[in-house]
Amino acid sequence: LMEVNSVSKKEENFMVESEREKELKAFDETKLGVKGLVDAGITKIPRIFYHPPDTFNRASDLGHKDYAIPIVDLARIHEDHSERRRVVERVKEASETWGFFQIVNHGIQLLTLEEMIDGILRFHDQDSEVKKEFYTRDLRPFIYNSNYNLYTTYAITWKDSFFCNLAPKAPTPEDLPPVCRYILLEYLNQVLKLGTLLFELLSEALGLHPTYLTDIGCTEGLFSFSHYYPACPEPELTMGTRKHADVDFITVLLQDRIGGLQVLHQDMWIDLPPLPGALVVNIGDFLQIISNDKFKSAQHRVLANSIGPRVSIACFFSTGRHPTSRIYGPIKELLSEDNPAKYREFSIPDFLAHYRKCLGDAYVNATWMTIFLKILGPRTARSETGTGRGCTFGALILHPERPFRVQN
Ligand code: OGA
Ligand code: NI
Repeated sequence: LMEVNSVSKKEENFMVESEREKELKAFDETKLGVKGLVDAGITKIPRIFYHPPDTFNRASDLGHKDYAIPIVDLARIHEDHSERRRVVERVKEASETWGFFQIVNHGIQLLTLEEMIDGILRFHDQDSEVKKEFYTRDLRPFIYNSNYNLYTTYAITWKDSFFCNLAPKAPTPEDLPPVCRYILLEYLNQVLKLGTLLFELLSEALGLHPTYLTDIGCTEGLFSFSHYYPACPEPELTMGTRKHADVDFITVLLQDRIGGLQVLHQDMWIDLPPLPGALVVNIGDFLQIISNDKFKSAQHRVLANSIGPRVSIACFFSTGRHPTSRIYGPIKELLSEDNPAKYREFSIPDFLAHYRKCLGDAYVNATWMTIFLKILGPRTARSETGTGRGCTFGALILHPERPFRVQN
């Protein structure tokens, strides 16, 4: 009997999985992304977008109002030594406790930021036939699609994105869509320049020589994802961006005025409110590792919203797209007898290979999630509160461990 049961169970899993695959494929083949669904006037989201509920609550739901992600003003750091020391101190504190901060007076003009947001909107608002030409899952200098991990994640998200690399190999204007090519190149170049300053401040915050982090290659690679989050008819059931930490040295993010970005801090979701003219900076896994866990690569997510579209552009400092043979590990100058290395040394390609393998293992849960959805029906993806049922999807989902951690 047990054998019969396990065979039919396998059979059912297979059916569920192939139905899901078919739906994903049909969605992908429209080449119009989530915006295409919204433009077609859907009022219920397809079940491939359903997410499991989250295990953490919003700080605001718990009545905590005094948590705020630090804002750092860079205006006078070049003229005033004591001001620079204060800024380094704030960057240090923010990187140690939050892994996130916002910067103002960073040197990139408001007009450039607004034009960048506008450029992303212009790309998505183009005629469908023109836009489809850019839709691809192949490695090209400009990649537009919905959910780059469509076929490899257990739950897809309510957004469309385009990818563009800048360093070490920049695209030519001809590689990019005419509606946003010049602003995209201009903006990315300015972020690359800003990166040098940020890594100086972060080096100083670690007590190192100001050029330390750039000297070991932290500004060698820069790539960007521009996101477009359409308004969602059932925002409670899905996510704009699921909970994750960035796999890079740092990320510089520009968001528009809609909001929805949240940072996981002390097991609570803290809103990262839009601030006109500001850029969000967050520590990624590589910097957490080479700082030997002094700096935190915090998990974050973006809620789906009934208001939209929301637009953002995330710039990742990492050579992931053009791997180098450089070896990284906890910075020797930071280690001591009391603070031994928490990680083994690795090359970026090794790290990413390991990370992708973990993500592949996590995909097994796509089947389980679909089965549970069949039994229990859709549940709110925002938090556990108010679901009133005993079963936790969250527990079924594997989160890739930061690889190369030494077992102390
Ligand atoms: C990311 C990210 C946040 C946003 O792309 O890694 O976290 O606001 N984006 O779009
Ligand atoms: Ni991120």
